[in-house]
Amino acid sequence: MGLSLRNQQQLLSKIATGNGHGEDSPYFDGWKAYENDPYHPIDNLQGVIQMGLAENQLSFGLVEKWILNNPKASICTAEGVNQFRDIALFQDYHGLPEFRNAVAKFMGRVRGNRVTFDPDRIVMSGGATGAHETIAFCLADPGDAFLVPVPYYPGFDRDLRWRTGTQLIPVACESSNDFKVTIEALNAAYEKAQEDNIRVKGLLITNPSNPLGTVLDRETLTSIVSFINEKSIHLVCDEIYAATVFSQPDFISIAEVIEDDIECNRDLIHIVYSLSKDMGFPGFRVGIVYSYNDAVVNCARKMSSFGLVSSQTQHLIASMLSDDEFVNEFISESAKSLEKRHNYFTSELEKVGISCLKSNAGLFLWMDLHKLLKEQTTEAEMTLWRVIINEVKLNVSPGSSFHCPEPGWFRVCIANMDDKTMKAALTRIRIFVNKELVVPTKKRCWQNNLSLRLSSTRLDDFMMSPHSPMQSPLVRAT
Ligand SMILES: Cc1ncc(COP(=O)(O)O)c(C=O)c1O
Repeated sequence: MGLSLRNQQQLLSKIATGNGHGEDSPYFDGWKAYENDPYHPIDNLQGVIQMGLAENQLSFGLVEKWILNNPKASICTAEGVNQFRDIALFQDYHGLPEFRNAVAKFMGRVRGNRVTFDPDRIVMSGGATGAHETIAFCLADPGDAFLVPVPYYPGFDRDLRWRTGTQLIPVACESSNDFKVTIEALNAAYEKAQEDNIRVKGLLITNPSNPLGTVLDRETLTSIVSFINEKSIHLVCDEIYAATVFSQPDFISIAEVIEDDIECNRDLIHIVYSLSKDMGFPGFRVGIVYSYNDAVVNCARKMSSFGLVSSQTQHLIASMLSDDEFVNEFISESAKSLEKRHNYFTSELEKVGISCLKSNAGLFLWMDLHKLLKEQTTEAEMTLWRVIINEVKLNVSPGSSFHCPEPGWFRVCIANMDDKTMKAALTRIRIFVNKELVVPTKKRCWQNNLSLRLSSTRLDDFMMSPHSPMQSPLVRAT
């Protein structure tokens, strides 16, 4: 039935038949493994538990309650249907004024009202995914590059590069200083690009970081602004995890830094935001480009025709985010739930000797498993990852898929599941660590046989012994 790849390459565009999407990566392979065999607490206890998806499901109860109490906010209810015609016909690419006002206010609220946002600078896009592509399109030509500190969200390889033809150049960050972004590393990446005759158009930072779950401090932000200002390149700040910060230090937006701390050419500063993480609405595709540059606002707005947020969603969000009482409660309760989940998960991991990078934000942990690697290489990391996917049946994402140069780090999402599933996942981790580490390295069959799948008997074993009496060898070793 299917055409050969060669035929397809002749029939279709280079972009369509190339691998620019970046789908060929363990990050996406893990999702496929989950989709082929998804865990279900009743129907498929032995399935893969999804821990590779940065969703925020912990505070949906509050949203559902609000929806029930505000039937007018929807055009699909008896109370709201009188707005149906207007909303169904609306297609202006500026967006509903009440939507832009509400989002601008929400962005300010999430940043502790220390800074205000101008609704006229808010440009809509299909999620942060669309926002990144829009901004890359506005700022760079094919072949131009953005510097990006590693580890970074794998989707950037698709969002910024695929259709625009721009490149991403990694900026080295190391675990020895908690993956901080240093001026030395920025300069080294910039100079290397110049040696290679690559024109650097910007620096892309993610604050709070995915996958690290850490926030950038004021000093680092200030030095970043002075770096880009001096080089006259753009600074794109992905702040889509701003409201996931659950403990000190506080989140500091780039908007505050350029307002309070440092003079710079504001035409170079752009923020990417979305409601996918802070509100937990990735399905709504509400993405925002907020640029301080009028020409970028102008061009991005024209481009937003390709990825408008549906007017029905704008209408609902405008109403929801204008409700101060709801927003305040949501932000504070969501942070509490994330903190509780984070603390529980990290302390359970600690009991089996697994540590994570110290973090205070995000929907995930950056778990350090380097002690479980046979050798400190990316290949060994992939070997361990295959075991975790195929045998332990947890979809966690290996650090190499985030371009992390040091092997042994894994991102584990913790906010996309209920307590019961979380406990099932922790049980599997505990048993895996206990079992595998008491077996002498030579005999660990998974290190020799990569295609090994967990037999049902062994998985039953996992399921039936939720609490191993053994203390973890990792704990003993430390
Ligand atoms: C740092 C970062 N930016 C952008 C995105 C894409 O978000 P959206 O669902 O709003 O497109 C993600 C999603 O995981 C992300 O982690």
